[in-house]
Amino acid sequence: MVFEKASTRTRVSFEAGMYQMGGSVIHLTTGDSQLGRAEPIEDTARVISRMVDLVMIRTFEQSKIERFAQYSRVPVINGLTNEYHPCQILADIFTFAEHRGSIAGRTVAWIGDANNVAYTWLQAARLLGFKLHVSTPPGYRLDPRLAPPGEYYEVFDDPLRAARDVDLVTTDVWTSMGFEAENEQRRQAFAPWCVDANLMGSASADALFMHCLPAHRGEEVSAEVIDGRQSVVWDEAENRLHVQKALMEYLLLGLEVQ
Ligand code: CP
Ligand code: NVA
Repeated sequence: MVFEKASTRTRVSFEAGMYQMGGSVIHLTTGDSQLGRAEPIEDTARVISRMVDLVMIRTFEQSKIERFAQYSRVPVINGLTNEYHPCQILADIFTFAEHRGSIAGRTVAWIGDANNVAYTWLQAARLLGFKLHVSTPPGYRLDPRLAPPGEYYEVFDDPLRAARDVDLVTTDVWTSMGFEAENEQRRQAFAPWCVDANLMGSASADALFMHCLPAHRGEEVSAEVIDGRQSVVWDEAENRLHVQKALMEYLLLGLEVQ
């Protein structure tokens, strides 16, 4: 596991999961490895992948993990980049399925920042046949290079309209890791994009609420919503463990395990 950004859930779920399956893990960060001293990512990939069976990386640019994967002999798992967070959305879709059945044909509202978690929800909507309603503040719109137009999503200026009658409302922090310098400016721009009881009231009566965590109560979500009856955030966090164990098993053993 290579962490170039902080983590609680991703680290603990991968580490606990690997030990539960009888394996072991090595935890590297930028500061305690030669990555922090400018060793090329390609060289790091060539070396590490001769010594381990799987690599998980949390880093900045998506291109960095792709360069690593290109030179790796073993599968490389994306543990979050600036652009995507696939392990999170695997857990989120599984959580939806546990509570409500198949997500195909359903509608999900994304309220807040056009970030890595949002872009991965968009990938999932396209792949799994559900629809995403996206509402972001002006100036923080989706990047069309990461969100090619299509039927799988619709953009709304008004977060209340985006949430109307949806099956799931989800959000994330207003300031993702790496963007801390914009914190104050974002706090002001995003203030009307708080998922509160009023916004949940616009969604379908049995809509779920999800958040990848860590959350900031009183910013992107009110305490009433995240700690309320529609919230499934603790199941969602736990499911990181289960889906990632399945992912690691699949990557190591393929379809041998049924
Ligand atoms: N949701 C998530 O990836 O959390 P961590 O940053 O704690 O790993
Ligand atoms: N969008 C957040 C997710 C943290 C799990 C970030 O990138 O910081």
